[in-house]
Amino acid sequence: MIRTELCDMLGMKHPIIQAGMGPYSTNNLAAAAANAGALGIISTSGLALGMGEMVTGGEKGTPYELLKRLLNRIKDDTKESKGIFGINCMVSAEFAQPARKIIQAVIDARNEDPEMRERLRVIITSAGDPLPWTETIKPSGVKWFHVVPSARHAKRCERAGVDVIIASGHEGGMHIAWEPVHTMVLLPAVVNAVSTPVVGAGGFCDGATLAAALALGAVGVQMGTRFLATKESDFMQMWKDQILKSGERDTTVARGIVGPARYLKNEASLELTEITVRKAPGLFLGQPDDLATVAPEVMSKEMEGFNATFAGDEKRALMGGGEVAGRIEDLPTVGELIEGIIREAEEIISRLPEKIGR
Ligand SMILES: Cc1cc2nc3c(=O)[nH]c(=O)nc-3n(C[C@H](O)[C@H](O)[C@H](O)COP(=O)(O)O)c2cc1C
Repeated sequence: MIRTELCDMLGMKHPIIQAGMGPYSTNNLAAAAANAGALGIISTSGLALGMGEMVTGGEKGTPYELLKRLLNRIKDDTKESKGIFGINCMVSAEFAQPARKIIQAVIDARNEDPEMRERLRVIITSAGDPLPWTETIKPSGVKWFHVVPSARHAKRCERAGVDVIIASGHEGGMHIAWEPVHTMVLLPAVVNAVSTPVVGAGGFCDGATLAAALALGAVGVQMGTRFLATKESDFMQMWKDQILKSGERDTTVARGIVGPARYLKNEASLELTEITVRKAPGLFLGQPDDLATVAPEVMSKEMEGFNATFAGDEKRALMGGGEVAGRIEDLPTVGELIEGIIREAEEIISRLPEKIGR
């Protein structure tokens, strides 16, 4: 049994978070993860970008209304297990307005329903500054997690009153930081910089990497790519197959909506990388741009790729994924995945003293 501060804080069985992966749906995945004793996370960047119909299977409504319905659905789908769940909400400048509505939907849902209050436990904010959100989130009593790419950002989270900091390394899938610091360096640096509990993200997929995160001082791991490649995940089969085909060198970094993004290598992602090098080289030099300053050719290539993804066009699709895709070789159920990770981590940890000759 691996029990950490994260399990105690949220009343859940395993110190594992299923990552938000917008603008796509993680609605089924979140229910499956919560039912299996991990933290299930609903992605909301699709709602924020006005793609509500696409991520709810055709429902109509404002992001606020659609999220309220999704929260009720996941509450029903996890009734028996009393699973714990939350949402991921991007708070960068581009998302600030819809983010307010999304966060308010969570706060209202918890206030209106005692069962929701017990099980809808977490808001994970990402891709922006946490400080402007303190007054909205803190008084509500929901646990607040924020994603950071550096020790400096982690200290800002402490000032903001964040409950758990997620240190997200550059090997991770899709949105990544402007400065390429990977988990092996980032996670211990963040743990040393703050007294707030820290979760590792980027590159986690099995018992060995969970055990490593705990050894580096984390209270748990957040996994995106590994959860994407499971039976219940909402993602298209072509995306899961691409992960199974990938080796550890089969991802590429190019521009993606709010900044750098890591994609699985294919024709479309390599073309986008090439045009990013030519037209938006600041992305590789730690010089942030934004939607107002980025070259239009880059934006239109991105949009073409995202549209092709929704159309199921395997060659032209831009499919986000982490370096860890190279370590993923099966499509288990979420339950099998989580049980396997915990069993393997326990074995590794219990055999360590024997391995080092004590
Ligand atoms: C397809 C995809 C979409 C993602 N979208 C989001 C998002 O909308 N918001 C966010 O904070 N992180 C997003 N991420 C990052 C994940 O939340 C997570 O931190 C990351 O996948 C961890 O690295 P890993 O893929 O190596 O597990 C996304 C990741 C993937 C693979």
